[in-house]
Amino acid sequence: MLFTATVLIIISSYTSLSFSSAMFAFVSTTCGLAWASAPIAKEREQNAKVARSNTAKRKNEKIIWAQLIESIPDPIFILGKQNKLLYANEQAKNIFNIKKLGVSVSAVIRTPKLLEAIEAVSESKEKKKIQLLERTPIERQFTVNIAWLSKEDDRDPTILVHFRDLTEQERLNKMRADFIANASHELRTPIASLLGFVETLQGPAKNDEVAREKFLGIMAVQGKRMTSLIDDLLSLSRVEMNAHKIPSEKVDLITLLHNTIDSLTPLAEQQNIKLEFEEPEGEFIAIGEDDELSQVFQNLVHNAIKYGKSDGEGYVRIYLAEIKRDKNKQEKIKIIVEDNGIGIASHHIPRLTERFYRADIEQSREKGGTGLGLAITKHIITHHRGELKINSRQGHGSIFSVLLPKA
Ligand SMILES: Nc1ncnc2c1ncn2[C@@H]1O[C@H](COP(=O)(O)OP(=O)(O)O)[C@@H](O)[C@H]1O
Ligand SMILES: [Mg+2]
Repeated sequence: MLFTATVLIIISSYTSLSFSSAMFAFVSTTCGLAWASAPIAKEREQNAKVARSNTAKRKNEKIIWAQLIESIPDPIFILGKQNKLLYANEQAKNIFNIKKLGVSVSAVIRTPKLLEAIEAVSESKEKKKIQLLERTPIERQFTVNIAWLSKEDDRDPTILVHFRDLTEQERLNKMRADFIANASHELRTPIASLLGFVETLQGPAKNDEVAREKFLGIMAVQGKRMTSLIDDLLSLSRVEMNAHKIPSEKVDLITLLHNTIDSLTPLAEQQNIKLEFEEPEGEFIAIGEDDELSQVFQNLVHNAIKYGKSDGEGYVRIYLAEIKRDKNKQEKIKIIVEDNGIGIASHHIPRLTERFYRADIEQSREKGGTGLGLAITKHIITHHRGELKINSRQGHGSIFSVLLPKA
């Protein structure tokens, strides 16, 4: 040890270093550190500084990209080296039930197709797009974009996995396709019947006076059925087109209900059903759109007559009530259409406002129904920020209540 120090002092005098630095070298050496430490310490300090600033930079970058990813409404993952999950935004965590980061992506995602695609991107370093159907926790359909990102070390992102949720879009596409199929089917039935009778009248019943009278009657009914269907389809499309316009007119409900009753009195008389309007005292003004609200009560009263009691004991009652404050502290008007007709079995009630849904298809067709009336009604009421409630007992009658905002 002493020898080493001596040698160092000699060397230092040769290299004309000052005594103090020679002493420092001696101390350093005796402590087992490398010699000539002064510049090294400086360098180390420099390095530490750079490392600290790099860490701060990295932290800052991570905050920026985490915020970026969090602000995108689609589910997103970021993977690091060895496909470790570096980050998942809230949407991705919810959908894939992710509780922990820093684990391999295969511990979180169990879909082989997606894992294979990630593996392929990690090897080829080229982006990839796949379609994915996740069945749990609920069925969802995604387009997944997997992109390769440049990287420097372990902690940097290497792959970005972006999910575009197509579930809602697919549901709408399916609804649209179902709707067109249903509408075409509903139109085809009367057309087939019309064409059948035309053929009969041109052929076998050409000279049969009695048959001709009878068939022309049926053809007229079928023609009317097509007209009502087309009218309802147009109404539905009109209501949908106006969906973004918030109704703002003042509608006098008493006048509107009188008009509805006047137009349906002939039908009620024909069915031997008593149509009663319990006209209240005072004014009942709702915020709404006159034509649309007219259609609502036309549909409800028409249904009450159509599916009413037909033995002479049948009645349809219409009455109103004011609701001072509902749960949202808004004043509302309640309009009730009540009948003592055939009623509706409880399992049908939640589905009655679906397009083309009927408790009894044959019965509805027989009565000239289209199965669209309540769908239109519900649409209009929702558009008015109102509510439709259905109470019914099979064999006893139904109560349809409409709540509308008071002007
Ligand atoms: N007042 C009512 N009494 C009994 N059933 C009703 C009544 N109103 C509606 N319904 C049932 O709801 C179904 C859907 O009504 P709606 O959409 O108006 O179609 P429809 O063209 O058949 O009248 C009807 O087919 C019928 O089964
Ligand atoms: Mg109807």
